[in-house]
Amino acid sequence: MSNKKLLAIETSCDECSASVVEQADPWVKPLSNVIFSQIELHRRFGGVVPEVASRNHLDMLFPVIEEALIKAGVGFKDLDGVAVTQRPGLIGALLVGVSAAKAIAYALDKPFIPVNHLEGHVSSLFLAHQGSFPALTREHLPLVICLVSGGHTQLYLMKELPPQNLGLKLLGESRDDAAGEAFDKGAKLLGLPYPGGRAIDEHAKKGNSKAFALPRPMLGDNLEFSFSGLKTALFTELKNQGYEPSARISTKPAKLPTGKALDDFCAVLQESIIEALFRKTQLAIQKTGARAVAVVGGVSANSRLRSRFTHEISVPFISVPLEFCTDNAAMIGAAGMYRLLNGSFLQGPQLLSATAYSNSEG
Ligand code: KG4
Ligand code: ZN
Repeated sequence: MSNKKLLAIETSCDECSASVVEQADPWVKPLSNVIFSQIELHRRFGGVVPEVASRNHLDMLFPVIEEALIKAGVGFKDLDGVAVTQRPGLIGALLVGVSAAKAIAYALDKPFIPVNHLEGHVSSLFLAHQGSFPALTREHLPLVICLVSGGHTQLYLMKELPPQNLGLKLLGESRDDAAGEAFDKGAKLLGLPYPGGRAIDEHAKKGNSKAFALPRPMLGDNLEFSFSGLKTALFTELKNQGYEPSARISTKPAKLPTGKALDDFCAVLQESIIEALFRKTQLAIQKTGARAVAVVGGVSANSRLRSRFTHEISVPFISVPLEFCTDNAAMIGAAGMYRLLNGSFLQGPQLLSATAYSNSEG
């Protein structure tokens, strides 16, 4: 029997992505991973505008799917199913992907595989990349996974490798803002373009992270995070240093740090976020006796995070190639492949009742 192939679709936020993935036991091989980013469309609003996102997904999704099929050298008839992000995310944006996936799966009479976006980020660990396969082995188990995105900051313990049930256990998460949100909101105060994480990363490389201090968003000896106070602390520090942060509610024109001062603000803010992620992840390793650690999600693209985890964490560090850190359909395809193999899908008339959900439960 030939290896299974899936079309995967991701439209939960501002990336319109489609991928064709192939079973490569025990891993999943992306044959294509096309990502159309809407960043330019949302930039002038300083963040994602949900209605603009949905409308653009409607325009872009079919060209993106077509390109993913062509790049993979695969036709609709070669597919064994269609996987799609069903939750969590912007409801209008999700609905575009889910409706398209339903239509394709129904027309082909193939499995429709709904995937949780967070499970997708975790499954980015199981993707083969450019001929090489994940370095994960049983020696790395149990594995602590730090999932850091624009909407979530969570620590998991993974007890098994696919195709087994991963036995994922949530160890702790953020009580308020996510780490990516802390980057994005900080960047907005500093007048940097959306999304802020990458811009802060670049400026921070030239800055001094000890130029002054911001609080470390820590909550003692537990595995929870709290990042919401950090933007207030940044706002206050900017004011104390004589700047006028670029808050929309302000009637005064912004007066923002530039040059070396801006680089320093970015380095200090970044250090504060990464320190919290690093310390809590290290604590999770100690509390669980984990034998390795992995970081997934958009913030795992951060160069300081990757360097600290590579050089300072107490167990081997598994990272994901940058292409699979921020939102992409290949990771949804990986999660979808294991669901397909486990029989967790809908087919025929029963798939018509499937819908999208903005929350992460269920
Ligand atoms: O996983 P992702 O693409 O989307 C969500 O599921 O939310 O993560 C997006 C987040 C944004 O907050 C973005 O600022 C952040 O990832 N990000 C970064 C970097 N690249 C993206 N944060 C810090 N440093 C980066 N290099
Ligand atoms: Zn994501």
